Amino acid sequence: MKNASKYDDLFAQAMEAAVNAYAPYSHFRVGAALLLDDGSVITGANVENRSYGLTNCAERTAIFHAVAMGKRNFTAIAIATPDAKYPVGPCGACRQVISEFMPPEAPVIFGSSADNRIETTVEGVYPFDSLHELQKT
Ligand code: THU
Repeated sequence: MKNASKYDDLFAQAMEAAVNAYAPYSHFRVGAALLLDDGSVITGANVENRSYGLTNCAERTAIFHAVAMGKRNFTAIAIATPDAKYPVGPCGACRQVISEFMPPEAPVIFGSSADNRIETTVEGVYPFDSLHELQKT
């Protein structure tokens, strides 16, 4: 398989998660799979709303679910956009949220299929990240 990597399984789980997308307006399904430091995976899908701005992206669904379960240590995130012809990276809001919980070197894998995907890092999708000077207390 083209692009074979140790994240094949994580990406496959993101693809599976996209099946559960609630996207009656855009018909653009997105799935995300978040790898935790204990090896477990939490998935998410985009959830749209008829008040469009309330839509929650797949990445944020997965991250917020994990955080709400008391998990905060994430190793990698895979994002699947099966309705696109090319890999679609996370939106700006999701990049900011990803950077809140994942270090710059953490892998970010996104693709429209197993054979058409990009493997980069948090820093790759979100360079010149800001506001790290704000201390968590
Ligand atoms: N979407 C995501 O789930 N993640 C992204 O990073 C990009 C956009 C969703 C939001 C909306 O439901 C659909 O894709 C079209 O924008």
